[in-house]
Amino acid sequence: MPWRQLTGGADTDVETVDRQLHTADGYRIDLFADDVPNARWLAVTRRGDVIASQPKRGQVTLLQADSNRDGRADGQRVLIDGLRRPHGLFLHDNWLYIAESDGVGRVPFDHSDGRLAGSYQRILEGLGDEGNHWTKTIAMGPDGWVYLSSGSTCNVCEEEDPRRAAIMRFRPDGSSLEIYATGLRNSVGFDWSPKNGSLYATDNGRDWLGDDFPPCELNLVEKNAFYGWPYANGNRVPDPHFTPEESGANASAEIAQKIAASRPPVHDFPAHNAPLGITFLRSPAQPAGYRDAALVALHGSWNRSVKDGYKVVSLHWDERGYIHQRDFLWGFLSDDKSEVHGRPVAIAEDASGNIYISDDYAGAVYRVSAGVARSAGAAAEGKPRMQAPNKPLVIDSGAALRGEELYRRHNCTQCHAAQVPLRSLAKKYNLQTLANYFDTPTPPMPNYGFSGTQKRALAHYLMSLEVESNSSKH
Ligand code: HEC
Repeated sequence: MPWRQLTGGADTDVETVDRQLHTADGYRIDLFADDVPNARWLAVTRRGDVIASQPKRGQVTLLQADSNRDGRADGQRVLIDGLRRPHGLFLHDNWLYIAESDGVGRVPFDHSDGRLAGSYQRILEGLGDEGNHWTKTIAMGPDGWVYLSSGSTCNVCEEEDPRRAAIMRFRPDGSSLEIYATGLRNSVGFDWSPKNGSLYATDNGRDWLGDDFPPCELNLVEKNAFYGWPYANGNRVPDPHFTPEESGANASAEIAQKIAASRPPVHDFPAHNAPLGITFLRSPAQPAGYRDAALVALHGSWNRSVKDGYKVVSLHWDERGYIHQRDFLWGFLSDDKSEVHGRPVAIAEDASGNIYISDDYAGAVYRVSAGVARSAGAAAEGKPRMQAPNKPLVIDSGAALRGEELYRRHNCTQCHAAQVPLRSLAKKYNLQTLANYFDTPTPPMPNYGFSGTQKRALAHYLMSLEVESNSSKH
C-alpha cells in the first residue's frame, strides 16, 4: 500500500462532525468552534470561555462560552498576538501563563469579562526552540511549581542543552528554574492524578524503526528520574543508533548502565500514535467510570505505512493499578484509513464537566459532554472557510534552482520522498503562504530557521514541481 499524504488543513463543519465523529456511550459531541486554524493548547476560564493557542499565527484566542446553548461558542476574539509560536497555556491567580517556543510569559487576566487586564511580561527567556520538537507545554502543579516540558531537537541524538528532552519546573514568578526529569523525547502532555497526585506524561517514540516499534509511552514522572531516550525505547530496549561500534566500548558500558537505571513506561500506546494532551477528568458530573479517568489525544501517525491513532482514548486505573485503554472519541480517520478529518491535540475540562478538545488539522475545538445527542434541528450552520486564493503561479526559475539546492543540502527527501510526499501544495498554498510555512512547521518537520530568501527559494522550487506534475499526463 502506498504512503499517503497526511498534511493539509481540512475544513470541518457541524455536518461533518455529526457524520464522522463518535463518542463513548453516555457522551455527545458538538463542534464548539471552527475557524481556529492550528488550534493547539486549551484552558477554560471561570466564566466558561475557552482560551486556545495558535502557534502558527503567533496568537492566543478566546472562544466565548456558549451562553445561548446552541452548542457553539458565542464568538471569538484574539486575546494577544505577535508571540513566538505560543503553545502551552494555563490560568492561575488571575494570570494567563503562555509558553512561547523560546520562553514563558504571563499577563493579568480578568475572568469576569474575558479580557487582559495588564501587559504581557516574559518571565523566562532563552529556552532553545531549534530543531524538531519546539513546542513547550506548561501547567501549574499541585505543589505550586510551574512544570514545563520541552522536546528533543532531533529524532535520536545526544542533546547538548540539558533543557531539551526534559521536564523542568520553576516558581510562578519565573525564578528557580530546575530540571525535573530527563530522557523524555517529546512529552507534549502531562497532568497529575487527582487520586494520588502522581505526575503522568505522554511521550512520542522515535521514528524510522518500522511501523510497529517503538511504542509511544505514558510515563509516571518522578523527580530526577531518567526515562531512557535517546539510548532506549519502550521497556529499556537499546536503540540501534548506539551500538558498541558506533559509541566505543567505554561509552557503550556507560550507556548500558544508563539504560538499566532508566524508567520504563507504565503504559504503551501503539507506535507512531503520537499521544499529545493528557487530562484527568475531575468533575463530579462525569458519568461513573470516567471520574478520575484520564483522556489522551492521539494526534496520529505520519511515520507509518498505514495511518493509526487519530482519536482520543480514556485510561482507567483498576484497583490493582493496571491501566485499561478505551476509545473515547474517534472517526478522525476514515474506515479505510486513507482520509483524515482531524487530529486531536489537547483536552480541557470545565467546572461542569464539559470536555473541550482541540484539533490543529481541522482548525476546530469540539465540546464533548455527558448526555444524549443534540437533536438534528438544533444543528447550527457550519460556515465555509476561505480557500487559499487560486492565483496563477509564476515561478522564478533562478529562485527555484536555489530552492532545489537547499532541498538537497538539507536532505528533505529523508522524510518527503516516500513517508510524507509533498503533493497538491498548490491547492493549499500560494507562493507567499508556502514560504511562510517554514516559520512554523508542524513537528516533527524541523524548523530550519530559513531566511526570507531561502523560504522564497524553497517555495518556488516546490511549486515548480507542482506545475510539472500537473501538466504531465501520467
Ligand atoms: C524529520 C522529517 C522531515 C524533514 C527532514 C523535513 N520534513 Fe517537511 N514535513 C514533515 C512532516 C511529518 C510534515 C507534515 C506535518 C503535518 O502536517 O503533520 C511536513 C510538512 C512539510 C510541508 C507542508 C506540506 C503540506 O502539505 O502542508 C512542507 C512544504 C515541507 N514539509 C517541506 C520540507 C522541506 C523543504 C524540508 C527540507 C528543508 C523538509 N520539509 C524537511 C517532515 C519532515
